[in-house]
Amino acid sequence: MSMTPIPDMPEAEVLRLRDAPDWFYLLREFDALFRLGSAGGSALIRSHRSKVRAALSATFSSNAIIHRRAPASKPVTAHLPRALDLGERGVMQGMARALREVRGQLTWEYGYERMPKPLARKFAYCEVLGPQGPVRSNDLILGFVLFAPATTYPQHSHAGIEESYISIAGAWSENDAAVHAPGSLILNKPGFEHRITTGEEEPCLLAYAWIGAQDRLAAPGMKLTATRKASGAPTPT
Ligand SMILES: [Fe+2]
Repeated sequence: MSMTPIPDMPEAEVLRLRDAPDWFYLLREFDALFRLGSAGGSALIRSHRSKVRAALSATFSSNAIIHRRAPASKPVTAHLPRALDLGERGVMQGMARALREVRGQLTWEYGYERMPKPLARKFAYCEVLGPQGPVRSNDLILGFVLFAPATTYPQHSHAGIEESYISIAGAWSENDAAVHAPGSLILNKPGFEHRITTGEEEPCLLAYAWIGAQDRLAAPGMKLTATRKASGAPTPT
């Protein structure tokens, strides 16, 4: 069977979600989480889940553009193989396996202009969907945050952004309120101050979702909250 050559069409050069099975299946895992999981009886969490689902559904139906970013690692990514291994043993194994398939393409970053030195070795995040890509969306950011064992992530909040964390591997606590196990979903409303601590012996991997106005998601302006200098806490940027 002979094939007609494809004419020069810029659109033909644009990589789309359905041409990138690794990213597509990773997003299918997010979709399953937000579609099938429980809101635990919370109207606020139910509303958050529904907003994430709507934005994800638009991503699938528009066959979103893939914008490839240069892969980048950070010191904490040395803990990623262990975090994925733990994730693959538990209830979040589907997500951990899908993330393993794209691990060489992830852009790990800090997001802060000024990074407290101790934290620079113990934390980083990567986005998988959002205004910057790799899967393009202006209405939702999905990503992963990785913590080394025994990390304290200082108090912070997100102006105009509703955030959920879903535990993939490891144990962690927010505001000393509870210990969250793989599968848990934690909602942080816009402006809610939160501080994270992680277990002593194992890394912690969380998926996160950010919903907010397009201009907020395009420039989230991440800041750590100012606390007393005497505590040795970082100065906010
Ligand atoms: Fe946060």
